[in-house]
Amino acid sequence: MDKKAITKGLLSTRSAFRKSLIKWFEQGGKIYPWRATDNPWKILVSEIMLQQTTVSSVIANRRFERFLEEFPDLETISKAPEDQLLRAWEGLGYYNRVRNLQRAAVAVLSDHHGAFPKDATILESLPGIGKYTAGAVSSFAFNEPAPIVDANIARVLARLFNYHSPIDSTAGIRQLWEWAESLLDRKHPRIFNSAIMELGQTYCSPKKPDCQSCPVRKFCLSTSPESLPLKKPRRKVVRVDEHAIFFEKDKSILLAQESGDRRKGFWRLPLRNEEEVAHLEPESKFTYSITHHRVTLYLYRSEVTPASAETFVPVYKLDSLPIASPIRRAIEASL
Ligand code: ADE
Repeated sequence: MDKKAITKGLLSTRSAFRKSLIKWFEQGGKIYPWRATDNPWKILVSEIMLQQTTVSSVIANRRFERFLEEFPDLETISKAPEDQLLRAWEGLGYYNRVRNLQRAAVAVLSDHHGAFPKDATILESLPGIGKYTAGAVSSFAFNEPAPIVDANIARVLARLFNYHSPIDSTAGIRQLWEWAESLLDRKHPRIFNSAIMELGQTYCSPKKPDCQSCPVRKFCLSTSPESLPLKKPRRKVVRVDEHAIFFEKDKSILLAQESGDRRKGFWRLPLRNEEEVAHLEPESKFTYSITHHRVTLYLYRSEVTPASAETFVPVYKLDSLPIASPIRRAIEASL
């Protein structure tokens, strides 16, 4: 049978596929706090949060509940100063997302009279809301028939259809969304989308899929699921060194405020060029990763002349300031 006919095979049995998948999920699907609500604001928060952080760490640290205690509705977040936003998001990374959450809240208040649109294409026009998030809010909050493709669903689809092209290419992305749309149970979009996502989070795992237990194994066309999905070649990791100063005086430490696009508003230890610290011995060394960089941070305990954007900040205030997690760890280890 040629590839097209095989693909058609699965699509022609999709109603049985949907039934098997939904039945499995109804019997044992996990109960998460964001599954116990149909409030679109809460669902949006969960989806944005879960884009960078694993479900287990969001649950273990009550990050979802804590964020919503601080920002229970659109009005509250729309009025919050940036400092408070960044502090509430600390440790979750990719801080533009919390800024976008605020922008989206402001847009819903000003352009939609405070009521979230339920249509995915309209949701997608809100700041920071892409195709996945729009589909998730539309289907999870409003039970609208909007497809979703996240990394888990992409893996499930690539295996179901035995897809041997890179899923992160333009053609691959388009193909996955097409399949997500045609498989979607339009009568039960909320439960279908939760179920296919959960299949990817459980049996259809990246390295060791448990096909024996899979509720839809008889529909799956893959012969070696552990080798799928395929991806484009990875960007190389670039190693960089940073040289930071730890200057403590009168229970204050010298800090600098970030100005760059991504980390705007954050505080960090002051940095110096390698030549400026050549005469000093580093007191300690930390490593952390950011995007495709592997950073080695050398820390020098030294008195330096503060540069223009550098100020002394009392140690007791550190807790309430936005500081990236690896930098906070370096500071705490040096105090
Ligand atoms: N990860 C991202 N969104 C999720 C959801 N709605 N349920 C479980 N895991 C998720």
